[in-house]
Amino acid sequence: MPTSKSDSAIDLPDLAATDALGRRLAKALRRGDVVALKGGLGVGKTTLARAIVAELSPDLGDVPSPTFTLVQTYPVELSDGPAELWHFDLYRLDRPDQVYELGIEDALAEGVSLIEWPELAAGLLPEEQILTIELQIMSGQARRAQLSGGAAWRERLAGLS
Ligand SMILES: Nc1ncnc2c1ncn2[C@@H]1O[C@H](COP(=O)(O)OP(=O)(O)OP(=O)(O)O)[C@@H](O)[C@H]1O
Ligand SMILES: [Mg+2]
Repeated sequence: MPTSKSDSAIDLPDLAATDALGRRLAKALRRGDVVALKGGLGVGKTTLARAIVAELSPDLGDVPSPTFTLVQTYPVELSDGPAELWHFDLYRLDRPDQVYELGIEDALAEGVSLIEWPELAAGLLPEEQILTIELQIMSGQARRAQLSGGAAWRERLAGLS
C-alpha cells in the first residue's frame, strides 16, 4: 500500500548514542513540530528528551525532570529563532482532554512539543505534524529507535540516521 510516511531505524548502542541522536534531532526542529516519544517504562524517552533540551538551551545546566509535573517548558534557540519547548509526560493524565488544560494548543501553535506517552492523548494530537520515535530495549544499554513521520519529516529524517 503506498504511504506518505517516512521510516528509519537507528541503533543506539549506548547512552552516548541516544544523547547524540537527541542533539542531531534538536538541530532539525522547527516551531510547530511535535515529537511523540513512545516505548515502555524506562526505555529512554526522558533521556532522549533531555538531550534535545540540553542542545537547544545550553545555558540551562542540568535539565530538571518533569517527573511530578505533566509538563515543563524551556526557552530554546531553534535554528530559525527563539521558541518555547514544551516537554509533556502524559503518563499520569487522567483523561485525554486534560491536555488542553496543560496548554497543548499553545504548544502546537507556537512551540516545539516533546510528548512522552502520547497514546494517552490519542486522537487529540495533529497526526500530520508528528514525528514518532518508538524506543525499544535491545540488551543492556542498547536501544533501537524507530522514527516515522509524515511528509513534513521526510527530508529531515534522511539527515538524522
Ligand atoms: N542507550 C540508552 N538510551 C537511553 N537510556 C539509557 C540507555 N542506556 C541506558 N539507559 C538508561 O535507561 C534509563 C531510561 O530512563 P528514562 O527515564 O529516560 O526512561 P523513560 O522511557 O522516560 O521512562 P518512563 O516511561 O518511566 O518515563 C535511564 O536510567 C538511562 O540512563
Ligand atoms: Mg520518562
